[in-house]
Amino acid sequence: MILITRREQFSAAHRLFRNNWDDEKNLEAFGKCSNPNWHGHNYVLFVTVKGEINPETGFVVNIKKLSTIIKETVISKLDHKNINIDVDFMHGKLASTENLAIGIWDQLEPSISAIGIELHCIKIMETENNYIEYYGN
Ligand code: NI
Repeated sequence: MILITRREQFSAAHRLFRNNWDDEKNLEAFGKCSNPNWHGHNYVLFVTVKGEINPETGFVVNIKKLSTIIKETVISKLDHKNINIDVDFMHGKLASTENLAIGIWDQLEPSISAIGIELHCIKIMETENNYIEYYGN
């Protein structure tokens, strides 16, 4: 079993807040990410898949094919969008990096399985100093 990771990037806006909290309480819980007029991040997404090596190609997966799947399934929905408003799979969820990782997993998993490999990890860096990893449960 070999693991392989593809890195992709997207820029998106979000706001972390709860409707039933006032601005002060949202600021206390979510800091600058609660800014009422939105703000953006340059997110870096790492998608790790695993599988056996195909003896004919020496590859676990054609990395270009994997990149196309990631772009078509998630990057196209997220890049230059507002995560709270524009992204169908984030509707009704707090736009945290944690929830985003789960949402991206759920979007990608069927397409990854369909090409005969297994999704292993979704890692998202919201800033250089913070990252989230999700392994599907
Ligand atoms: Ni933020």
